[in-house]
Amino acid sequence: MDSAWSALNADIQACQRCALARGITNKVPGQGSVAVRLMLIGEGPGQQEDAQGLAFVGPAGQLLTRMLAAINLNRDEVFITNIVKCRPPNNRAPLPEEAQACLPFLRAQTRLIRPPVILLLGASALRALLGEDKRITTFRGQWVERKGFSLMATFHPAALLRDPDKKRLAWQDLQLVRDRLAQLAARPGAGG
Ligand code: URA
Repeated sequence: MDSAWSALNADIQACQRCALARGITNKVPGQGSVAVRLMLIGEGPGQQEDAQGLAFVGPAGQLLTRMLAAINLNRDEVFITNIVKCRPPNNRAPLPEEAQACLPFLRAQTRLIRPPVILLLGASALRALLGEDKRITTFRGQWVERKGFSLMATFHPAALLRDPDKKRLAWQDLQLVRDRLAQLAARPGAGG
């Protein structure tokens, strides 16, 4: 696992598959524990993430930390990453072709971590993984079973900062995630 993980991170650092790789400060592969039951997938690094090489460390990341704390998780107990590992210019959403170019890295990360539960943060993650026709407002809060993973989409924390009225719905979604994780932990042989 360690060598596969190091090789994957080296591939991400070396990647020039799309134009996003030019003009960034740091690649942002994602971080957290690799032995987790929950993986969170956002859109792409912003300014602070690009500067530090770490996912979700700006204002949206601080809200994400509080959202996780509300379901009794700290950031070391999850893995946090993005659809694209390079910051799109001016924080625009990644283009579909940029998302497609980067998806093999996300797939490799999910293959190595095998998180039973995946939470998609916002419309870009939802569309890139579950289909360009999906709308976050209608699709959020629903479980989708794919290839042994339970996936759900909820609002991106940045959207919650812009529109706090959405927080009530995001909290409903988080409670579903909390309950699913509790069910998994209660299974015989689930371990700590
Ligand atoms: N927004 C994202 O989607 N990802 C980050 O890492 C930071 C902000």
